[in-house]
Amino acid sequence: AESFKYEGNKGQGGELHQKAGDGYPTMTTAQGCPVHDDQNSLKAGARGPSALEDHVMREKIFHFDHERIPERVVHARGYGAHGYFETYESLSDITCAEIFQEKGKKTPVFTRFSTVAGNQGSPDLARDVRGFAVKFYTQEGNWDLVGNNIPVFFIQDAIKFPDLIHSAKQEPDRGFPQAQTAHDNFWDFTSLSPESVHMLMWAMSDRAIPRSFRFMEGFGVHTFKLINAKGEMKYVKFHWKPKQGLQSVVWNEALKINGADPDFHRRDLWNAILAGDFPEWELGMQVFDQEFADNFEFDVLDATKLIPEEQVPVKIVGKMVLNKVVDNFFAETEQVAFCTQNIVPGIDFTNDPLLQGRNFSYLDTQLKRLGSTNFTHLPINAPKCPMRHFQQDGHMAMHNPKGRANYEPNSWEADENNPRACPAHGFKSHNEEVSGEKVRHRSETFADHYSQARQFYISQTETEKEHIRDAFAFELSKVERLSIRERVVSHLLNVDKDLAKAVGEALGFSEMPEPAEAAMETREDLVESDALSILKN
Ligand code: HEM
Repeated sequence: AESFKYEGNKGQGGELHQKAGDGYPTMTTAQGCPVHDDQNSLKAGARGPSALEDHVMREKIFHFDHERIPERVVHARGYGAHGYFETYESLSDITCAEIFQEKGKKTPVFTRFSTVAGNQGSPDLARDVRGFAVKFYTQEGNWDLVGNNIPVFFIQDAIKFPDLIHSAKQEPDRGFPQAQTAHDNFWDFTSLSPESVHMLMWAMSDRAIPRSFRFMEGFGVHTFKLINAKGEMKYVKFHWKPKQGLQSVVWNEALKINGADPDFHRRDLWNAILAGDFPEWELGMQVFDQEFADNFEFDVLDATKLIPEEQVPVKIVGKMVLNKVVDNFFAETEQVAFCTQNIVPGIDFTNDPLLQGRNFSYLDTQLKRLGSTNFTHLPINAPKCPMRHFQQDGHMAMHNPKGRANYEPNSWEADENNPRACPAHGFKSHNEEVSGEKVRHRSETFADHYSQARQFYISQTETEKEHIRDAFAFELSKVERLSIRERVVSHLLNVDKDLAKAVGEALGFSEMPEPAEAAMETREDLVESDALSILKN
């Protein structure tokens, strides 16, 4: 190999073309001033000191000093790609959402996959939930479906989210661990919040160590509403089904991959797209009416429960193809701002208290993370349809109202820059009737934290069950306070006795704890029923 030989400072680089010309354009400052020398600061005399008037150096360092923005408070580590969504058939009977009106209609999308707990530099193969966030740039505004790769969630009410996340991130005194579930605070919180038991089963399953983003399902988790042109409402749960199939790694592989290539998942997505092997997911909908919701065994507003596919089959309505990597990771993947409140006519929220809190949280955090109310002006966040409103000013405003009108009502002439609200086509919230006392409590219909956890477990193959048992045993073996280990096992006793026993034995328990008091009744009839097909795959 040729050894490196220092040849002194050759000024602008000679034949290595460190100067403009031969096809290299002239470098400028951010103000556009052509730069004479980008490698040497301005000095008084050959050996300094440096001159304060060196605006080229000062501007360069000033900008560098401010390169970092806060990472996302959750889902900090992620990877995104562009693509499109294609509708298979018109769904105009159930929704007036513009993207679902015409068979074959294509809508641009940007999708970001992520882990939840780890910081930006954490390894990809952490045992963790994966985010699956899709921004549809529809002709009636951006619709963000901000989901996960697991169909249920740890908690039922957004007010508990800061506690859940505090417990899952680094412990506050020592600053570790992160991006893994193996620590006291996480298990302490979840074992004191029995509604998380169902999600824990999924999180300890192979689902939490996917082989790559391309082999994961996605779920909108909450129940949403679809509204048609007549104003009629149906409920809906959204699903993404990977056409590549569903694949995971085993824990030992995950550990090795994390050591050898912590960027394994992002590299996989990048390479697949560049090789023309575009990943595809089909969008599925479980659509049901009020009568089904009223008679369903669980509350459709409870995000810790799913709706079995054999009760409401998943109707496949279109596909998403990711076919373009980003041009710039920061400008696109980092600055993209997904938000559950970004919905469009034809889709609406339900009263799920987790969803209602999310609708506040994303916008709020993005103001801080992206630094200005005008982050919708960034190309990755800007709608690809006309935008007309009277919002103005603020940091970095790029599209202030043009002309005289910046308020309404106004009596200025009709033109492109003087929009009016449109009763016929504007977004209209579903006219659901609500009544009741203002109370701070959990609805009794949100009860039963174990039945669906049990159904998930018994739906697994023997090998998958073994992985779940091993995962609980491994993760809990890292928990130092023994009473927390016991509390977790006391919940597992309500899920499946063999599972609890196996975990207890692996942890060296001399005797098993009492089953956790099931604060809310467990449905015995479901205990006996067959495993759910949604869980099988
Ligand atoms: C970020 C999913 C619950 C607050 C995210 C992201 C996903 C996601 C996929 C990453 C978005 C991206 O790629 O930029 C979910 C799901 C939830 C859930 C599926 C439950 C069903 C919550 C709740 C809250 C919350 C209850 C707060 C009350 C946040 C915040 C971010 C975030 C603050 C960071 C957003 C940003 O900085 O851009 N969530 N989340 N999430 N989530 Fe959630």
